[in-house]
Order: sequence, then structure tokens, then C-alpha cells
Amino acid sequence: MSEICKNWTEWLKKNRFAGQTPEMVEQTTRWLEAVRDVILVYAGIKPDDVILDIGTGTGLLAFKALEIQDCKGKVIFSDKFQDCLDDCKRILDESGITSGYEMLQCPCEHISMPDSSVNKALMRSVLVHIVNKQPAISEVYRILKPGGKFCAFEPVIKANTRYWELTNPMYIEKYEDFKKAENDIMENPMDSLCNFDENTLRMNLEIAGFSIPEVKVQAVQSKYTVQAGMVKEWFTNPPSPDQPSAKERFMKYFDEQTVDKYIEDVQNYLTGREIQLKTNAVFINATK
Ligand SMILES: C[S@@+](CC[C@H](N)C(=O)[O-])C[C@H]1O[C@@H](n2cnc3c(N)ncnc32)[C@H](O)[C@@H]1O
Repeated sequence: MSEICKNWTEWLKKNRFAGQTPEMVEQTTRWLEAVRDVILVYAGIKPDDVILDIGTGTGLLAFKALEIQDCKGKVIFSDKFQDCLDDCKRILDESGITSGYEMLQCPCEHISMPDSSVNKALMRSVLVHIVNKQPAISEVYRILKPGGKFCAFEPVIKANTRYWELTNPMYIEKYEDFKKAENDIMENPMDSLCNFDENTLRMNLEIAGFSIPEVKVQAVQSKYTVQAGMVKEWFTNPPSPDQPSAKERFMKYFDEQTVDKYIEDVQNYLTGREIQLKTNAVFINATK
């Protein structure tokens, strides 16, 4: 686990928003709700569906599914990590909700459910944390009933704007070296964050058995002014509790002093500037 993040619940509640202004936190929250709503529209939840939220985290998808079913169906909150399930259960208890759900602790590569037992499998930003995505996707196929749906969202990080694209070689020492290192990091096949895109995911889905899965790319452009301290957060905040930060990734190529100087240069160049970012993702809508 990262030194500055204890577990997934903490990451989802705190680190996810690190370096964001209150306005940006609000925007991220609205965006998460919008993504959730698209997944649930794709899923077309029915009252008697068995719904599995895989890698539920703080229950973004499962709580809404529970609301749609009005606690009369079966929503399974599932995660590899118990802290996530404990936190969701605490919220359910505090809300007085006692029916319509189950808790299931298991990794999505080995879901402890029988074959063909689920109508809707939902997922948001889970495959991005798994190096080998095929076993997880094949497992989703296994537990779905024929006609069941897999509806998911995953960020495609390797297609996002890179640090070097935001900066100017005139102001950044060792610009070309860091550009090369960043491009290299994004091509690492053992790095779950960037070892996939829409084409590899479509291939994973087809190998699993889904015929003609829909994998829709969403490219979002956003603009904002970089505030003091934001750049340091980008580099030091871990992308998950168990993954190295961007700074640690660059330290595989340069010593810490050199990376710190790079971060300082990027910070000095960007602070106060308006930047335009391209953020890529995919929505999956697949039927067994
Ligand atoms: C970025 S969070 C997303 C949480 C939630 N789906 C959401 O949209 O807010 C990733 C989640 O995947 C879970 N996770 C990571 N690896 C997993 C695995 N191999 N199997 C199941 N869940 C996993 C983590 O515990 C965490 O809750």
C-alpha cells in the first residue's frame, strides 16, 4: 500500500480528489454520477434482476441500482477488499436498509458465484487496476445468464494528454529525456493502468465469448487554470493504494533529485496557465 493512502476506501474518498479545487471536486462528482447513469441506462435494470457490482468501492453503481430496484430485487456489492464492503454496509445500516442486497468479497478474476447466475454485471474503473484483464472479463462472461449484460466504464489512460504535451522544452530541463521516459511508461505491458485500449478490450470481450460487444470511446476535452500546488499533487498522489505515483514511476529512469527538479520546472511553467486536457475512456455494453 502507498504511504499516503491506507486502503481503497480512503483513496476513493480522499486521494481521488487530491489537488482539486472545491469547484473541480464538484465537477468530478457530477461526472461520476453521469458515468454511473450511462452504465445503468445500458444495463436497463429490471425489478427481478440479479445485479453484480464488481469492484464496488464506495458503492457508486450498487447504491443507485438498489434505489432503482427499490430494495426489492438483489444487488450484490462485490469487491476484492473488505474495507470497501464494510464501508458500504455501514452506510446501508445507517440508512436503515435491510433488504435487496448482499455483500460478496472476491477478486473479479475468481467470482465466487455459480455459472449463469447474474442478469447484469456492472463495473467502473476496475479493469484499469488489473494487469491481466482477460481472466476477469472471461469470469464476467461465466457468471452471466444467457442474455445477461455486462455494462462498464474504463478510463484509457495511455490516450490521455501527457505532461510533456503540456509543457515547453524552453522551460524544462531534460525535457526530451522526460518525454521519452513518459512515453516509455505508457507502453509498459505490465502496467495495468496503461496496458490496454478500446481495441484490446474488444478483443478480450470477444475471446470471453461476447458476440459483437459495443466498446464506445469517449474523448473529453477540459480546460482549467493550474493552481499552486496542483502539479505536485499530480506527481505524488498514487493512482491507487497499491500503485506507484508518477514521481515514483519517473524514479525508475532518473534519481530523485532529477525528478524533483522536473516536477518543479513543470510546476513553475504551468502554475497560473490555462491548460487543455484530453481524457479518454470507454463504455462497454456487451450481451452474453
Ligand atoms: C477506482 S475504484 C472504483 C470503485 C467503484 N467501482 C467506483 O466506480 O467508484 C477500483 C475498485 O476496484 C477494486 N478492485 C481492485 N482490484 C480488484 C480485483 N482484482 N477484483 C475486484 N475488485 C478489485 C478496488 O477495491 C476498488 O474498489
